[in-house]
Amino acid sequence: MGGMVGFLYRQLTFAPKPLPADISLLGKTVLITGGNAGLGLEAAKEMAAHNISRIILGVRNLSKGEAAKAEILTQSPNCDVLAWELDQESFPSMQAFAERAAVELDRLDIVILCAGVKLLEFIKSKSTGHEMNVQVNHIGTALLSLLLLDPLQRTPKADPGQPTRLTVVTSEVHFWTEFEQKDAPNTLARLDEPSLFGKGMDRYNTSKLLNVLWLRELSSRVGPELIVNGVNPGLCASTLHRSDTTPGIKSFNRIFAWTSVQGGHNLVDAAVQHSEAQGAYLSEQGIKNPSPFVISAQGKQAQTKLWNETVALLQEQLPGVNLLKNHV
Ligand SMILES: NC(=O)c1ccc[n+]([C@@H]2O[C@H](COP(=O)([O-])OP(=O)(O)OC[C@H]3O[C@@H](n4cnc5c(N)ncnc54)[C@H](OP(=O)(O)O)[C@@H]3O)[C@@H](O)[C@H]2O)c1
Repeated sequence: MGGMVGFLYRQLTFAPKPLPADISLLGKTVLITGGNAGLGLEAAKEMAAHNISRIILGVRNLSKGEAAKAEILTQSPNCDVLAWELDQESFPSMQAFAERAAVELDRLDIVILCAGVKLLEFIKSKSTGHEMNVQVNHIGTALLSLLLLDPLQRTPKADPGQPTRLTVVTSEVHFWTEFEQKDAPNTLARLDEPSLFGKGMDRYNTSKLLNVLWLRELSSRVGPELIVNGVNPGLCASTLHRSDTTPGIKSFNRIFAWTSVQGGHNLVDAAVQHSEAQGAYLSEQGIKNPSPFVISAQGKQAQTKLWNETVALLQEQLPGVNLLKNHV
């Protein structure tokens, strides 16, 4: 069942499950962006309960990061939890964060790129000049996915066995956008034009479509020792919806939203299970088709175009870094 009716039906009838109790993550290191709140924090807590050895929380506010760390340690005192500064509105911050991971971590097994915003008004990032949903959700996620390939690909070389994992947190809302900017001469530049922001959640939905297109292209370029996938956590009660003033949104969420703990179950399922499926889109803890647009010929074209434009934009920001050096 597709569309809005299918979405509401699944929210009411599916119950996300935690990782089976017998799965141990001992010895592994996970890095989670947006790890101080909402689904990212819940995923961290769940992984700590499965004895993961080290958790890196990417946080834009260190005091919130320390509070999240304390929350994880209350439950799982033996886990090594570190809160590292990361601002997805700042290219130097993202570069420093990824360099720190490359230099300081002896291994990196799992990355969950979860940080995100949902803004219903056009706001330009003061530091980068790009529209904020696109900056944080797509540009930031894309850059980190490239910069973290180094430690993610080093780990299975030193310790062959299971592939390492990179999960991008996307959303079912990627089905619900016309993505009118896709045919512009430069899609990313067009997304910075205020007049084309769209109504309601449209721009957020587009940013989540960009996540799906990006992760599919990335997954085709990384080789079998790193599994890249994307997860739809489902509608969950979290601070993501704080600036959504749509009439009735609070009551709607009270009826249909899962808890952040349940959203965290979906993130952990995607990042730990399903290692057989490169480039998969996961929803309700199973591999599902992404939107018809994504799997169409037009979608494939948009995917390549987005890849080329994004790499060009990022390369301009980081001229001294070979962003594609870790690709097969
Ligand atoms: N909740 C849902 O219904 C839902 C549904 C589908 C998909 N998702 C996706 O799930 C992910 C997590 O969302 P959530 O529900 O957990 O929301 P949340 O509670 O608002 O958490 C978002 C996280 O992203 C961080 N963040 C925001 N801007 C950032 C920036 N510029 N640099 C670094 N970190 C930044 C936030 O930090 P601060 O605490 O400092 O703001 C926070 O840690 C998002 O990608 C979202 O699109 C959520």
